[in-house]
Amino acid sequence: MQAEPAQPPIRASAVIRNIRQLVTVAQRPIEGARGALQVLDNAALAVYHGRIVWIGTDDEAEPLFLSTRQDGVTIVDAQRAVITPGFVDSHTHLVFAGQRAEEFHLRRAGVSYAELLAQGKGILTTVEATRKADAETLLALAQRRLHLMRDHGTTTVEIKSGYGLDRINEETCLRLINNLKALEEGAPSAVPQRVRVVPTFLAAHVLPWEYRERRADYLDLVVEELLPSFVGLARFCDVFCETEAFTVEECRRILSRAKELGYRLKIHADQLSPSGGTRLAAELGATSADHLDHASDEDLKALRDAGVVATLLPGCSYTLRSSYPSARRLLDLGLTVALATDCNPGTSYCESMQMMIGLAMAAMGMSLEEALTAATINGAKALALDEEIGSIEIGKRCELALWQLEDYREIGYHFGVNLVQSTLTLL
Ligand code: NIG
Ligand code: FE
Repeated sequence: MQAEPAQPPIRASAVIRNIRQLVTVAQRPIEGARGALQVLDNAALAVYHGRIVWIGTDDEAEPLFLSTRQDGVTIVDAQRAVITPGFVDSHTHLVFAGQRAEEFHLRRAGVSYAELLAQGKGILTTVEATRKADAETLLALAQRRLHLMRDHGTTTVEIKSGYGLDRINEETCLRLINNLKALEEGAPSAVPQRVRVVPTFLAAHVLPWEYRERRADYLDLVVEELLPSFVGLARFCDVFCETEAFTVEECRRILSRAKELGYRLKIHADQLSPSGGTRLAAELGATSADHLDHASDEDLKALRDAGVVATLLPGCSYTLRSSYPSARRLLDLGLTVALATDCNPGTSYCESMQMMIGLAMAAMGMSLEEALTAATINGAKALALDEEIGSIEIGKRCELALWQLEDYREIGYHFGVNLVQSTLTLL
């Protein structure tokens, strides 16, 4: 009998052992894994310089990495934790000062979000507070929110500007987002809980108060000055396409210029009324269209055919007490659905992706498998980062959430508390 040719050893810099369940959310089948989320029991995984190089059972890890102890391999004992990909929160507005509890309670008494916006409150209240705050305070506030997100299992966060709304304040906010990014990504490799930050220039959130008689001037400022000068500071450009904010034509002008300059595109689309944002996202080939509460089936089909990710933000329906968009309808139409917190002081003051999963399952018709997919790999698709992150697969970055659970199916079932023990990013 011929001996099997010896496999070349797999080079590893770290091995994570003793994993109760590895919920890979893999897009290609993994040997021995089960179900839509490709779950592997009693698992282990190996990493080489930040990339996953091997996934298997704990027993298989022993001869491969432990008995033949390669030099300098770090062994991480997961202590029977359940492990999922870290959450990818693809839509947040983390940089702001103040809070809007008063408006929250006014809405409970019957005043609508749109009415408050039309009265110059809402977003403009936060613009005023943000402009008044110094950069140090803003950074500390955003960092606190970012770390809350991390403690709830998030390893990638998109952060929008949009509460500065003039050259100096938008630039301050974008620089601050980039500082956060540098602080997180520049952390020494001994810090295994860093968060990946993706900056977005939310150029047209609402018309700033001082431009109320000079609408065209604000658009010129954004298109001719701000977009070109912020190219290096943001990966995405976003707009709020809505009756109370910006028209389809205005958004088209901004986003077309942004696209020429190399930004990827996002749109706050059809959130409060059917305003054409979903169609525009399809027309311009945006990476994602977000909210979609009032999108029609035809709009959604156009989005699907253009390959745009549909991002649902259930925290807004919860806060505004509006009806939840039906995720079921989107999924049945064949769209790629992502979930995000939209963390902001007006419509969704929540840092927890676990909460979004709970709401998606309770009120939007999603199964746990769909909701977890939406919160990880589809979030990565909404940031065009799905080659790098969002699932636990060979070749991807090792950015994980560790959970203290007997079974991953407790997610969404055991609710209102933080079930994540920690995140883990291996470089
Ligand atoms: O995504 N709709 C526009 N922007 C945010 C709300 C911002 C705010 O109210 O401060 C949203 O819902
Ligand atoms: Fe938003």
